[in-house]
Amino acid sequence: MARRDSLWGTRFGFYLAAVGSALGLGNLWRFPFVTVENGGGAFVLLYVAFVLLIGLPILIGELMLGKITRRGSVAAFRVLDRNDEVGIIGRRTFGAGVLAALSCLLVVSYYAVVSGWVLHFLMQFTFGSILSSGENVDSSLKLLKDNGLLQLALASVHILLSLVIVVKGVQEGIEKWVGNIMPIFVVLLGILVVKSLATGQAVEALRFQFYPDFTKLTLYSPLHALGHVFFSLSVGMGTMVAFGSYLKPETHIPSAGFRVATLDTVISLFAGLLIFPTILGMSLGGSGPELLFRALPRLLQGIDSGWFFGVAFFVCLYLGALGASIGLLEALVANVTEVLKVSRERAGWIVGTVTVLCASIPSLSSSGLQGVTVRGQSLFSLWDTVVVNVLLPIGVLAFCLALSRKLKASPAINEFVNDDSLVTQTLYSHWRIVVRYIAPFLITLSLAAALFAFISELAGWTHL
Ligand code: PFF
Repeated sequence: MARRDSLWGTRFGFYLAAVGSALGLGNLWRFPFVTVENGGGAFVLLYVAFVLLIGLPILIGELMLGKITRRGSVAAFRVLDRNDEVGIIGRRTFGAGVLAALSCLLVVSYYAVVSGWVLHFLMQFTFGSILSSGENVDSSLKLLKDNGLLQLALASVHILLSLVIVVKGVQEGIEKWVGNIMPIFVVLLGILVVKSLATGQAVEALRFQFYPDFTKLTLYSPLHALGHVFFSLSVGMGTMVAFGSYLKPETHIPSAGFRVATLDTVISLFAGLLIFPTILGMSLGGSGPELLFRALPRLLQGIDSGWFFGVAFFVCLYLGALGASIGLLEALVANVTEVLKVSRERAGWIVGTVTVLCASIPSLSSSGLQGVTVRGQSLFSLWDTVVVNVLLPIGVLAFCLALSRKLKASPAINEFVNDDSLVTQTLYSHWRIVVRYIAPFLITLSLAAALFAFISELAGWTHL
């Protein structure tokens, strides 16, 4: 088997890139509004439990598959097929790789649309008068929503920029861009959280985020929590397989995965504390995917140097989105290069064209395609629901079944035992139990609960 070079110059380089892929709109944009939709504290508790119980083991599994096979997701599964040292594979496991690549394409196309919204708000902050009143915030949003072509143009700029970085090469591209920005973003976020909590709604916000009122959960909540765990940790789409494929042999995967998952979760909790004080003070709770863009400018209107913080925040958020998109596009380009046997540049063109075409649907969902709704949901929301709450959980399920049945024990155990033998083989057996039984069981149960709720809604069983 041809081996990839370990392209990460330093161990730190890998963390920056993996964290750069995990941190992004999922933490700042999606976590707050999904938490609001699911009632707050109890959902957050469920979310954190799922990160530790399911998200982390899957993240470790993806990194491991990439590291052992040195391939992107589709080809990694093929290698499992052929190489006796690693394991054997059938059609089902190959299907898991293809499903991962498809989810990746669907995620990156709507992710690019939201990245375009971030670019729009960055411009509104830099040049517009968004900070002068609440109406200006709403009209900035309206300008965007009414103009689908503007959304598509911004999404296309984002896709192009991300692809140029990807095609330039992993080390140069990702490490350079994302590395320097993430620590700045974390500090900025910390300052803004303190300022937000100082606006007078701290107790209510903390209570909303951390007090678990289980009556607020619905039968959909477990699936929403799981889907968001996968989205936020960037698993279920093969991106972490691609990152793992560039890891150095000596990297201890379970520790690496743990650091990435912890940081990602802490940042999401910070994002909640940034947004919730404002929405509780202004009753912005039902804003859905627009929540961040309605709440943040309103928070910044009330604090000193709001303009500076707004510009800095949206620059960092945009770079976070860029880091995450790079991860997604890297996985797609790696797969297209390996499967179609074309150059990275040509793969970049193919991926770019298909992604822009896909992005046109969510871009136009609030203007040209406004009339097309499914049970009251816009195409954008439908896209989000199907990809995050259906495809990702199914993708992870397929991944669990494929990996736990086909990956032979010896190469996997090696990844769990580190040089100082601090981490023993016991960790491997725990990991295997989670990936083989616990995660598939909980994912299936969550899917079944949501399906039941959906069917009962359709049938009008209102007493449930
Ligand atoms: N994890 C990223 C975020 O939270 O914004 C989104 C993402 C990136 C999802 C890469 C999937 C992925 F492969």
